[in-house]
Amino acid sequence: MKNGLEDVIAAETQLSDVDGAAGRLIIRGVSLDNLVYNGTFESVAALLLDRLVECPVDRDQLKTLLGAARKDLFAYVANVDPAIIALPPVDALRAMIAQLPDGEDFDAALRLMAATAVFLPAILRLQANKIPVAPDETLSQSADILRMHSDRMPSPDQVAALDAYLVTISDHGLNASTFASRVIASTRAGLTSSVVAAISALKGPLHGGAPGPVLDMFDAIGSAENAERWIINALDGGERLMGFGHRVYRVRDPRADALKQALRRLTASGEVDRHRIDLAEAIEGAALAILKQRKPHRPLDVNVEFYTALLLDALGFPREAFTGVFAIGRTVGWIAHAREQALNGRLIRPRSVYIGPLPQAA
Ligand code: COA
Repeated sequence: MKNGLEDVIAAETQLSDVDGAAGRLIIRGVSLDNLVYNGTFESVAALLLDRLVECPVDRDQLKTLLGAARKDLFAYVANVDPAIIALPPVDALRAMIAQLPDGEDFDAALRLMAATAVFLPAILRLQANKIPVAPDETLSQSADILRMHSDRMPSPDQVAALDAYLVTISDHGLNASTFASRVIASTRAGLTSSVVAAISALKGPLHGGAPGPVLDMFDAIGSAENAERWIINALDGGERLMGFGHRVYRVRDPRADALKQALRRLTASGEVDRHRIDLAEAIEGAALAILKQRKPHRPLDVNVEFYTALLLDALGFPREAFTGVFAIGRTVGWIAHAREQALNGRLIRPRSVYIGPLPQAA
């Protein structure tokens, strides 16, 4: 048995390839750099869903269809149960998504992509005792998410930064949540069931729950001169450094640099405090040197969550909501994998090795 199924091949996919030795991510034949450059949520969604849904769509058609779907889904926000709003944002998002009908067609896919975008900003506003803002169907998904959250029209740089984030995290091989989505799809349960299972896997701190704690670490360190001492204390206390390490990458996660560049563009337009990036770089440098010394047998580098934390913070999302924003971007990847599994795969049903006691002889 391979603990954690490390290196076990459990699916064939045309969707994305994570090359852990070279630090390269390809999504449907396009390298991450090219995808992020001028990419939007709609463009990567059209690419991922190509030939996996009944009708071909390009980015412009998808923008129109998603806008209409967001408008329809706002009806769910009016009747949301206060017990759901009392939950942490990602749990509230999962509960609201679970109300949607299951289905395997393009309408079900659109509904889920639009639902994450509408529900999370509404949850955040209701939790802050503010009235939810209705979707504007003429906007792109990223612009509307920011607008529904802040009740202000975002700047083009802010929209570009959220698009860069959503494109960067749209799909990433057979990670834990994507595997969960494929397992559910292999039973033909439907796309809503796949997405609910995937959100449940994503929320753990070893997967998509890390960026909130990354920001906590930045705050606790506070200034560059404290970085080394804080990191040594944390590791001495048996803690893991959030935003570092990866099951597949043995070099730097290429998504970290894609997000760092998006953050730099926001800084250039004066929308992020330059000192935040300086502090992040100081923490990164100190952490890499100490991890190299402490774990010489295991190359550990920065992963996607490190710069995610700064980018989403700069876009005004509270840290408790970071995993929910991750879910907005990854839903399209989960759907594409679920469709691929349902179209080409068999029921996923591995075996276990029994190591318990045997029945006593009579
Ligand atoms: N900080 C300190 N040590 C770390 C570490 C981190 N972030 N990540 C891994 N390690 C160490 C482990 O302690 C272990 O050391 P040991 O061999 O001396 O016991 C070794 O590296 C291997 O760890 P393992 O748990 O087998 O790695 P994995 O492939 O199962 O874990 C992660 C991958 C992502 C879960 C892990 O790197 C981690 O917990 N990172 C922090 C959480 C995070 O940022 N998650 C977001 C991922 S995108």
